[in-house]
Amino acid sequence: MRAYRLANKSSLAMNGGKPVRSGPLPVMHPGAGYVGKEEIDAVTSVLKAKSMYRFYGPEFLNITGKFEDDIKKYIGTKYALAVTSGTAALHTALVGMDIGAGDEVILPTYAWVACPDAVVAAGATPVLADVDDSLTLDPADVERRITNRTKAIMAVHIRGTPADLGALQKVADDYGIALIEDVAQAAGATYRGKKLGTFGRVASYSFQLNKMISAGEGGAILTDDKLIYQRSVMFHDVGTPYRAWDDPSLKFDFPAFPGVNYRMNELSAAVLREQLKKIDWIIKDIKKNKAKIKKGISDIDAITFRRLNDPGEAGISLVFFTKKPSQALTFKKALRAENIWTTSGSYPGVVYDPSTNDGHVFMHWGHIFKGIQRVSKRYQASLDLLSRAVHLDISPLLSDSDINDIVTAVHKVADEIL
Ligand SMILES: Cc1ncc(COP(=O)(O)O)c(C=O)c1O
Repeated sequence: MRAYRLANKSSLAMNGGKPVRSGPLPVMHPGAGYVGKEEIDAVTSVLKAKSMYRFYGPEFLNITGKFEDDIKKYIGTKYALAVTSGTAALHTALVGMDIGAGDEVILPTYAWVACPDAVVAAGATPVLADVDDSLTLDPADVERRITNRTKAIMAVHIRGTPADLGALQKVADDYGIALIEDVAQAAGATYRGKKLGTFGRVASYSFQLNKMISAGEGGAILTDDKLIYQRSVMFHDVGTPYRAWDDPSLKFDFPAFPGVNYRMNELSAAVLREQLKKIDWIIKDIKKNKAKIKKGISDIDAITFRRLNDPGEAGISLVFFTKKPSQALTFKKALRAENIWTTSGSYPGVVYDPSTNDGHVFMHWGHIFKGIQRVSKRYQASLDLLSRAVHLDISPLLSDSDINDIVTAVHKVADEIL
């Protein structure tokens, strides 16, 4: 390890020393950072055709239908349905699977608040299970939380990294329950060489600004299951019994039921079609940056990297554990003082920092899980890991000089505080 401390005097910026860099790092908005003429031209074509609605228009282009074709081909499923957000995708997928009142869905303590929220929106009950040192669902704990009401396990590929799909699928198969993949934060990543989203019975995606590809908002459901697809089509389009009058492909073999309006519009789809063409390029750039940073700090003995279930991750984060929660909090504070932060405000972070409100962590889901603070000890394994996890964002837009600053600052801080 390089030595930064000069004869007992702290050189850390938080103690008055000179910061490693003078300003913030580029933000981690992967897809948005690659928006260019292609997206602008695609949106312009839709506007020129005055046909922004997905089902018809004066010069209807059916861009949303084409985006659905593109994404199902890219991921490798039989069906795709574009919707308005990742939350809408989760809600629709659950209704598509006929999960509702009286049913339980198991999900991880580290996800996004939309995950339990969508379960509640579907009328079902979310049940928490611990994460392991990959910070994704611990399959052994999932098994412990199964009851005769459990209908599904929601595996969340959090911060770009695949959940332990092999083990989770085994638990799901052993108990005859469904596996749902939430791929919102890891579109394009793989597990055992196959795209995430092709393992569960249904997969959901988000195209909000922080996601691998983005139209600001947007989402999609991917599945090989025709019935789930058809029920999802019906639900996302206010029930649509009337639409089958004009389009026989929308005539389904089950009675119509009420739905919501989660239809994607043609402007979003136009952006997403272009973004999807860039996704492999975006992932390649992110992973290149991550590999350099990880290599640069791998000689620090006092930290342990988050375990990866598969190297096919999307690479948007680098997480390492300190030995004690207090060290993680000081690490974050010290890095920010070195100007290793982004203007989005939240990173670098400690995954569970009790003093910050972060919707990724179950301790901040008290409006859904009443009394969660009181029973938090039931999730001691999660609390232990999440409160020691220092989280760095990996933007695809980092320059070599930015990367060098990150590596230098992590060494500098580790050298003094660990
Ligand atoms: C893991 C996860 N699931 C679901 C969602 C919900 O997506 P959206 O914000 O598009 O509704 C997000 C997005 O933030 C997410 O990160």
